[in-house]
Amino acid sequence: MIPLRASYQGLSPYSPPKKPCRVDLSDNTNLFGVPPAAARKLGEFHAELLARYPRSYAPDLRRVLASGLGVEAEWVTTGCGSDDVLDSALRAFLEPGEVLAFQDPTFVMMPLFAKVNGLRPAAVPLRADFDVDPEALLATGAKVIYLCSPNNPTGTVLSRASVERVVDEAPGVVIIDEAYADFARGPGFVDLALTRTNVLVTRTFSKAFGLASLRVGWGVGHPRLVAEVEKARGPYKLTQLAESVAVATLNEDPPWVRVWAQEAVANRERLREALRAMGLKPLPSEGNFLLVPVPGAPEVAERMRERDVNVRAFQGLTGVGDALRIGSAPWPLLETALTALRESLR
Ligand SMILES: Cc1ncc(COP(=O)(O)O)c(C=O)c1O
Repeated sequence: MIPLRASYQGLSPYSPPKKPCRVDLSDNTNLFGVPPAAARKLGEFHAELLARYPRSYAPDLRRVLASGLGVEAEWVTTGCGSDDVLDSALRAFLEPGEVLAFQDPTFVMMPLFAKVNGLRPAAVPLRADFDVDPEALLATGAKVIYLCSPNNPTGTVLSRASVERVVDEAPGVVIIDEAYADFARGPGFVDLALTRTNVLVTRTFSKAFGLASLRVGWGVGHPRLVAEVEKARGPYKLTQLAESVAVATLNEDPPWVRVWAQEAVANRERLREALRAMGLKPLPSEGNFLLVPVPGAPEVAERMRERDVNVRAFQGLTGVGDALRIGSAPWPLLETALTALRESLR
């Protein structure tokens, strides 16, 4: 007999509706190309290294990330995507049955990570201005609170006052997911990770850095906090290839990342104007995507897929309703998406 876990009933593998489409704007990845140093490193990689295990905890990447922040390597953890850093952090600080509080709506993996780790999710609605509600989050008593800024899927950012209040009064750890920080106007919240003992800020190479396929994410926080995350993470999460490409990209490609992040933001704003001209009202976004409320979004997205364009549909999002999330991209792709959307709204 298979000993089925009661808490896994109703769980299914992650599979957003997706068919291969010529224009895929559904996952907020970088569609502007490959960082040059990454392409070079791939070519230089010695195939014989494939036979050996990588180093357990990606020490070179930790060191380079940490030195960019002016701290020692012990302040940084890495993982197989920031998904892995987030998942490891939940395991590190919560026993099964304990509460994980998070803003709602937010990154769809959060309720899923809660479930697979046997946690009780406490979804706390964002306020009407899309800021977090510190009082309601703190009232959950959760030992781990997850915040996301710029938030996926809304694209909105959290105010410093609210985030600081949560961090100051939380009974435990506050995770701040900054997967989209490279597209945002402000500096984000890494300073809190460097000055408090209860803040873990997570970032990723999957968005502005254009390396989603390599699966590299990282987190920064006080060494005592990071040590616990590393215990939960376990060894060998980054391949040697992933580590060396990420290091080369960090060392050599920040100008490339900046240029294309700026282009993604410029095209996002051009897309906003085009959507507004269609009578739609996209939310204010500081990510590389726009969330646009559209009644019947799943059906509209299906009709767009029939036209070879994939965007992400959400149904009944708290405070928003049905909506489409459209990733920014080179303008010709967005033009194709706009045409498909116009035809699909009819
Ligand atoms: C808010 C947010 N956090 C984390 C991730 C995970 O990114 P990765 O695991 O590729 O680093 C994503 C991916 O879409 C995201 O939107």
